[in-house]
Amino acid sequence: MTEAAAQPHALPPQSFSGDAPEIAPERDLLSKFDGLIAERQALLDSGVTDPFAIVMEQVKSPTEAVIRGKDTILLGTYNYMGMTFDADVIAAGKDALEKFGSGTNGSRMLNGTFHDHMEVEQALRDFYGMTGAIVFSTGYMANLGIISTLAGKGEYVILDADSHASIYDGCQQGNAEIVRFRHNSVEDLDKRLGRLPKEPAKLVVLEGVYSMLGDIAPLKEMVAVAKKHGAMVLVDEAHSMGFFGPNGRGVYEAQGLEGQVDFVVGTFSKSVGTVGGFVVSNHPKFEAVRLACRPYIFTASLPPSVVATATTSIRKLMTAHEKRERLWSNARALHGGLKDMGFRLGTENCDSAIVAVILDDQEQAVIMWQALLDGGLYVNMARPPATPAGTYLLRCSICAEHTPEQIQTVLGMFRAAGQAVGVLS
Ligand SMILES: Cc1ncc(COP(=O)(O)O)c(C=O)c1O
Repeated sequence: MTEAAAQPHALPPQSFSGDAPEIAPERDLLSKFDGLIAERQALLDSGVTDPFAIVMEQVKSPTEAVIRGKDTILLGTYNYMGMTFDADVIAAGKDALEKFGSGTNGSRMLNGTFHDHMEVEQALRDFYGMTGAIVFSTGYMANLGIISTLAGKGEYVILDADSHASIYDGCQQGNAEIVRFRHNSVEDLDKRLGRLPKEPAKLVVLEGVYSMLGDIAPLKEMVAVAKKHGAMVLVDEAHSMGFFGPNGRGVYEAQGLEGQVDFVVGTFSKSVGTVGGFVVSNHPKFEAVRLACRPYIFTASLPPSVVATATTSIRKLMTAHEKRERLWSNARALHGGLKDMGFRLGTENCDSAIVAVILDDQEQAVIMWQALLDGGLYVNMARPPATPAGTYLLRCSICAEHTPEQIQTVLGMFRAAGQAVGVLS
């Protein structure tokens, strides 16, 4: 760490000449970022690549790219089902681009609902076996929109302390009272719900898979507790769509909770392989959300080519049984291999398609991340405030299209980097 980083709020030295009046260091609205700027500069001065400014110079497949001129295996992309290069998905996008043009120029409420938006919402109803589906421009906006619209003044949102930023921001955008419970603690959820007044409506917000450590929620117990207290339940299944449960609907399906969850939030940016977000529900009044939801109304809708790729991808995911099996087999091989080498992992067992390797501190995480990148492997580096409990970690997200040979290569890279950096003895 350089001195600048040690004093993150230090301002640059001023130069003075003769009797010139002392010029006060300029402070404006951006001065609050001085600490961040100094920290980033210190990182760059130490000669490492900025983990948060990586450029994919070329993407060859769901698992391979060229980064800094070097062929690199991708192990940090959320492209769980490898749909980004599916020939049918690409063809659907091209076709919609030709037929409907490059964009919609408007909100879903005005001129921005095209044939393809209706198609993708039908594909979601079919995928989830639910009566209602509303598509948003991103998963972030789906959470922002649904949480702030459902829970209003005098009502309650009860959320897991380790919830994704979009869930926290959805709470902030709304006017409801916010109550947090300890991560994945059924007991704490029960206790906190029990302290709330009976009358007001309540929404419990959970995630199927928590994306930093790759752990899953005890949804069965949590949904039972929420129902006991008369609360509605929303589950964000961003990191499980396509490969949890018999139909790939998510952790709630895998835990036998069909018909017991009121709202499921998802994204097109992970297993679906494009961009967009959605909420599905069986509630008879669900359509009313469209009439009151600001992040749905006051923004342009997704381009037709994007929703056409999503429709094709979602329909293919309904029967992607073989892909699912490959994904789980890859995940188990990676988790087991890293565990056997002695790395500290986010979960004891292979619970999801995310394997988090926990490091001691920022310095160790950055050096290890750089060693892997130099060796030809890209993983996500994650740090507080995104991570829980001040942890620094290297997050691996596995793809169905990784070959077993690639997984073995990745394990070899981790061993070499871990030994070089001193994480492994
Ligand atoms: C749990 C969760 N919800 C929502 C989102 C937002 O999804 P999107 O990328 O579509 O905005 C993410 C993204 O990482 C996520 O992890």
